[in-house]
Amino acid sequence: MKTVKILIAEDNDLNRLNLSELLSDTTGYDVTAVRDGKEAMEIFPLDKYDIVITDLKMPHIDGLQLLAFIKEINQDAVVIIMTGYATVSSAVEAMKLGAFDYITKPLKDDIVLLTVSRALSFVRLKEENIALKDRLKEKYDFGKMIGYSESMKKVFETIKKVASTDSTVIIYGESGTGKELVAKAIHFNSDRKSKPLVTVNCGAIPEELLESELFGHEKGAFTGAIRSRIGRFELAQEGSIFLDEIGDMSPSLQVKLLRVIQERQFERIGGMRTIDADVRIIAATHRDLEEAVKGGNFREDLFYRINVIPIHIPPLRERRTDIPILMGHFLRTFNNLKKKRVNGLTPEAMNYMNEYAWPGNVRELQNTMEMLIVMKEEGSIDVDDLPERIYRNAGGTHVIKSGLEIPEEGLNLNEAVTLFEKNILLKALEKSGGVKNKAAQLLKLNRTTYVEKLKRYNIT
Ligand SMILES: Nc1ncnc2c1ncn2[C@@H]1O[C@H](COP(=O)(O)OP(=O)(O)OP(=O)(O)O)[C@@H](O)[C@H]1O
Ligand SMILES: [Mg+2]
Repeated sequence: MKTVKILIAEDNDLNRLNLSELLSDTTGYDVTAVRDGKEAMEIFPLDKYDIVITDLKMPHIDGLQLLAFIKEINQDAVVIIMTGYATVSSAVEAMKLGAFDYITKPLKDDIVLLTVSRALSFVRLKEENIALKDRLKEKYDFGKMIGYSESMKKVFETIKKVASTDSTVIIYGESGTGKELVAKAIHFNSDRKSKPLVTVNCGAIPEELLESELFGHEKGAFTGAIRSRIGRFELAQEGSIFLDEIGDMSPSLQVKLLRVIQERQFERIGGMRTIDADVRIIAATHRDLEEAVKGGNFREDLFYRINVIPIHIPPLRERRTDIPILMGHFLRTFNNLKKKRVNGLTPEAMNYMNEYAWPGNVRELQNTMEMLIVMKEEGSIDVDDLPERIYRNAGGTHVIKSGLEIPEEGLNLNEAVTLFEKNILLKALEKSGGVKNKAAQLLKLNRTTYVEKLKRYNIT
C-alpha cells in the first residue's frame, strides 16, 4: 500500500513538532510540516497529499484561505482544521466550505489519531468507490453516447479497439459533435481509468500561459511565478491527457509538445529535473490538420506523431438517423431533470427537427430539446413551439407556418410544394386521430390516393 502523505500547517512551533512526531512515529505516515498558510500554498501543489491538517489562525494566510486555495486545486482534498475553543464557530464555517472535520486545541493524541484515521478511511473509500463503479460498468460502456448510424457504429468500434492500447488518438469533428465524449469513452475504457483524465483546452488558454499549464514551473521561473506549480502533464501521470483544440496551439509550443511525445520526458519551466511522462495522449480538433500542415500552421512532424489513430465524427446532418434517437434520449433526460412530463414531438415538429441542418450538431440539438422541454408545460411539442431558425429555411414548410410568404432569401418552389404536401398529409392524419378514411375526407381525396401519397412520403 502506498504511504500516506500528510501536510501540516501550524504556526505554533511546539504544536507543529508534537503533531508531526505523533503522526509519523505512531503511524509511519509521511508528514510534511510548514509554519504558515503561505508555505502550505507553495508546497501543496507540488505533491499529492492525502490529508491536510491546518491551524485556523495563522499570520498572513489563515486556515480558511488555505482551505479555499486547496479546494480550488483539488476539490476532493481532505482538510482537517485545528482550532481553539473560542473559534469553534469559524471551524463550523470551515466545514461548510468543505473541510472534512475539525479538532479543538489543546490537541489530544487519541482524538487526533482517530480523526486522521477516519479521514483516511474516507479517502480510501472514495478510491475504492471509483474502482468499484468502474468494475460494475459493462466492459465497454460509452456512457451517455448515443448513436445508431453506421458512421457512429464505426466510431464505437474504433473506441473499443484502441481504448486499451496506449496509442495516441486524435478526434476530428465539428463543434458539438461529441469529441470530448469520445475522449472520455477512450480514457474510461482503458486500463488508466482509475487515474486522472486531465483536459487542456489549447485554444482557450493564452499562449504565454499554456506552456506553464502543460509543464508546470518552478518558483521564480518568470516574473509572477511566486510559487512552483505542477503542470497538467504531471497531474495526468499514469492517466490520460486530453489536448482539446490542438490545432490552435502556437508553433513554439508545438515544438515542446513534439519533444514530450517523442521522448516521453519534460521539465517544468525553470526546472532542472527531467520528469518522465507516463501519459496517454488524446487530442481533438475541429480543424483539418492536414490542411493546416499544408498552410504552414501546423508542424508536419507533430502531425504524424499525433495522427496515429484518427477518429472522425461526422456532423449530425450527415447521420440523420441519429437525430430521432438523440431526441428521444434528450427528451427522457430533460423530463427527468426538469420534472416535466412532455410527451414528445408531433410528427410535423419531428419533421422540421429531422430536416434542419444542425450547424451546432449534437450540442445544438441538446440545447434545443432542453429549451423546448423547459418551455412546455405538458402534451407534445408542436411546430409553434419550435425556434424560428428550425423552420426558417425548410422550404415549403415555411408556408404552412406563416401563410403564403416567401422568405427574404427566396425558396425552391418544387421543394416547397413537396414539403407543403407532406405536411398537409400529416396534419390531416393528426387531426383525424390517425384514421385514414377521415384524413382523406378532410383533404377531399379518396382513401386510395391518400394512402398512396402517404407511402410516397414514407409516412407510416
Ligand atoms: N452521441 C452523443 N450522444 C449523446 N450526447 C452527445 C453525443 N454527442 C455529443 N453529445 C452531447 O453534446 C454536447 C457536446 O459534446 P462535446 O462537448 O463532446 O462536443 P465537442 O465536439 O467536444 O464540441 P466542441 O468542439 O464545441 O468542444 C455534450 O453535452 C455531449 O454530452
Ligand atoms: Mg470539446
